[in-house]
Amino acid sequence: MELSKLKDKALRDIAKIDSVERLEALRIHYLGRKGEVTKLFTTLPKLNEEERKIRGQELNVLKREIEKVLLARGKTLEHEKLGTLVKAEKLDVTLPGARPSLGHLHITSQAIEEISRIFAQIGFNRVRYPEIDWDYYAFESLNMPKGHPARDEWETFFMPWEHPRLGRMVLTPHTSNGQVREMERRKPPIRMTNIAKCYRRQSDISHVPMFHQFEGLLVDRAVSVANLKGTLDYFACAFFGPDRKIRLRPFHFRFTEPSFEVDVSCGVCGGTGFVFNPSQPPLNLRGEEQSEPPLRLRGGVGELQERCRLCKSGWLELGGAGMVHPNVLKAGGLDPKEWRGFAFGWGVERTYMMKAGLRIDDIRVLYSNDLSFLEQF
Ligand code: PHE
Repeated sequence: MELSKLKDKALRDIAKIDSVERLEALRIHYLGRKGEVTKLFTTLPKLNEEERKIRGQELNVLKREIEKVLLARGKTLEHEKLGTLVKAEKLDVTLPGARPSLGHLHITSQAIEEISRIFAQIGFNRVRYPEIDWDYYAFESLNMPKGHPARDEWETFFMPWEHPRLGRMVLTPHTSNGQVREMERRKPPIRMTNIAKCYRRQSDISHVPMFHQFEGLLVDRAVSVANLKGTLDYFACAFFGPDRKIRLRPFHFRFTEPSFEVDVSCGVCGGTGFVFNPSQPPLNLRGEEQSEPPLRLRGGVGELQERCRLCKSGWLELGGAGMVHPNVLKAGGLDPKEWRGFAFGWGVERTYMMKAGLRIDDIRVLYSNDLSFLEQF
């Protein structure tokens, strides 16, 4: 074949190639050991010297020419390949990112943080005591000797371990176990909050076997019920809102004297026990639906007032409180003639629900890990 024809053919072939791999095959076809151009070099020895010189030069020119075109085509193909790759894997850094979903604290943890903060502002520092403790701290030191019927209130889980002096081990049924522990740990004046898990053998729509309580204890000289009431009023205003009030009702605990139950005025009806709600069937004084005409209050205003369904009386029950019993002070190594104190304690979950005005049909949803419920808070 004429060298010029061979060159044209090679150049046409190279131009048609569309991949680096096939280009390499083509290189071997022309310039490889048995390639079309290489083969022509083997004919040189047959020529005379003059012809051989001319033919040799022509062949070298042809070889270099093809090499040059192969190289250029190779570069172009590499470039194109990179171009399609860039197009395929294009990353738009201006697109909004995929946001990882953010969790938040459980309602109970939120409430605990808020309660601790409110009491810290008036000098009650938060302490932690065991949530599995000895009978002595949970009952005995709190003026509830072994076998005393008052213990029945705290439906206690007893553990199979016993201490010769401190008695059986229990899952703490209330946070009051922190009272004598705190008195043993440091000298008065004492201002502490003990917030912890509590356990009682009960599970129904308004009880979970594991719940949380917060306990406040203050021990100092010349402490009175007025100080207790003032502290609780402060808490009610800070936690529930400035228009909420506290009420103390006489009660009985073995570890406080006098003892009280603490109520907070209802946030739904403003402490009146009545709300205006014409769409609901009226309730009678026991909170049952009634068929007779609803109670008409504040004659002349003409508003239909119904019993508040949340509190039914204007007040919501929070928990217990009282002045620390002399026997408890003695158990803590303090002289009741010198020191006095007050204590209060109640459920975190209940308190939070009262704040939100929530009426949760079944309190167990708090701990059943249902995200559609928890994410509302
Ligand atoms: N420990 C009591 C309870 O569990 C509440 C309480 C605490 C009462 C402190 C008086 C003083 O009900």
